[in-house]
Amino acid sequence: MKILEPLTVGGLATSNRVWMAPLTRSRAQMPGNIPRALNAEYYAQRADAQRGSGLIISEATPVSPTGHGYYATPGIHTDEQEAGWKTVTDAVHERGGKIVCQLWHVGRVSHTALQPNGDPPIAPNGRNSKSKTYIDATMERVDASTPRKLEVDELPGIVRDFAQAASRCVRAGFDGVEIHGANTYLLDQFTRDGMNDMPEPYGGPLENRLRFPLEVAQACADAIGAGRVGYRISPLSDHHDAIDSDPGATFSVLAASLGRMGLAFLHAVETWDRSKIDPRVETVIPAIARSFKDAGGGAYVANGDYTVELANQQIESDWCDAVAFGKMWISNPDFTERIRRGGPYNQWNRDTFYTGTEVGYTDYPALADA
Ligand SMILES: Cc1cc2nc3c(=O)[nH]c(=O)nc-3n(C[C@H](O)[C@H](O)[C@H](O)COP(=O)(O)O)c2cc1C
Repeated sequence: MKILEPLTVGGLATSNRVWMAPLTRSRAQMPGNIPRALNAEYYAQRADAQRGSGLIISEATPVSPTGHGYYATPGIHTDEQEAGWKTVTDAVHERGGKIVCQLWHVGRVSHTALQPNGDPPIAPNGRNSKSKTYIDATMERVDASTPRKLEVDELPGIVRDFAQAASRCVRAGFDGVEIHGANTYLLDQFTRDGMNDMPEPYGGPLENRLRFPLEVAQACADAIGAGRVGYRISPLSDHHDAIDSDPGATFSVLAASLGRMGLAFLHAVETWDRSKIDPRVETVIPAIARSFKDAGGGAYVANGDYTVELANQQIESDWCDAVAFGKMWISNPDFTERIRRGGPYNQWNRDTFYTGTEVGYTDYPALADA
């Protein structure tokens, strides 16, 4: 099966095309949002050179204190967090795996309780996201706070936060980074015409709306090399009240610009549910992938409610070069070995996606112990 064949993208040599999608699990050590031994064990279980993922994309990882939007998500902006991540990447590499860090700023999807000095979250608009988040160990859902609209002169500082986080990632032993431009967090909020209320030169026409996300991508590429940087988008998502009048055009132009930078991969959430898939996927996604590659970008990585069979078929038909799986990796630490054997697969338990213990985290059985 082609899905089991190696794939080299930019500076990343991956042993198979069964990548692990970024998955927030809210199990960092608190206070401090620091990765801990339990997190290292979880990632190492999924990193085995034979049985594990060709490339693990870490859970979304805030680049600065204002980048946090959910309780107990591990950051990459303090020395303690960097040291915590080093234990994770060491454990992954010992098992023969590879791991990149998903760099995150939530923008308006946050709460004053998680922000420095109890300030409002920051965003390219001052409108409430109508999203829910959780702000303490009870994991109870609360409404996101109404954001404060950013000033243009604050943006260079945020670009710097991303670049410094990328450099910290390399020091922490990551093989690269994925910039989180998806799911209507900060970069996506700038990109979409229904969400960006910034003045010139960061708001208005598409070229302006892409300026900040592209500055972030360029700064990360300058910091660690474009061949170690990927970018995630979700062009047809309606998550967190996402609005864009023409996602096909918006994200094709973004993809071409990222391709010109020579980024290693572009990763798209095509859908969360294939039974309700947006029919535009059939045309919009190939156009975006082509724009990225024609401009000089590396691989196109697909994600979203894929079965193993569909994933392999899409790789063989050149729709994509690799597929990132989310929930399958939550419940199958040896997912690649299971694919090789034709299954069976453990079912995931949604109730333990975000609860803070080892239950539903490191206790899913591998085949040998099943
Ligand atoms: C528990 C959970 C946490 C997630 N956390 C993230 C995240 O941190 N960053 C991100 O870009 N997507 C995140 N996602 C979305 C997944 O990466 C993926 O796009 C989605 O689960 C669909 O893929 P799947 O059908 O293979 O699970 C999360 C999804 C789940 C279920």
